[in-house]
Amino acid sequence: MDISPIITKDLLGFLKSHYPLHWDGLHGFQHWVRVRENGLMLASLNGANQKVVEYFAFTHDIQRQSDGFDPGHGARACKFIRTHLLDRIDLTPDEVNLLCLATSGHTNGKCHPDVTINTCWDADRLDLMRAGIRPHPDRLCTPQSRDPQIIEWAIQRSVGY
Ligand SMILES: [Fe+2]
Repeated sequence: MDISPIITKDLLGFLKSHYPLHWDGLHGFQHWVRVRENGLMLASLNGANQKVVEYFAFTHDIQRQSDGFDPGHGARACKFIRTHLLDRIDLTPDEVNLLCLATSGHTNGKCHPDVTINTCWDADRLDLMRAGIRPHPDRLCTPQSRDPQIIEWAIQRSVGY
């Protein structure tokens, strides 16, 4: 089933065949679905690039080798995108660069001047409650994601994991 016009069944099948960990695990498919929803919610409020947000959700953890500490997986995701996905995703070269910056940097816990990159990172961090970690406003980058109602909305969905 297609998740959206750009996250198609074909793309999902390709991603699944290249994901080294459990598809239904901590950093797998259900997490990606929630990161997409978080990101699109934020993008509807702050104007972030929705296509980049969607692709980030489904690629940022694609090269994880562990569900634990794995600081290199963001950089590997960027490499994976440039190596395997350029003919499978609907992005301009500038958008690919943005996606790569978002994936490669999402592991460092910082913020960025670009609203789309911050939205991607917040969308991921808003799903931390699945691991028992409550998202903290000080660790979020966009004013929209620091809204207590948004945090609570994300937490409720993460808890159901
Ligand atoms: Fe993630």
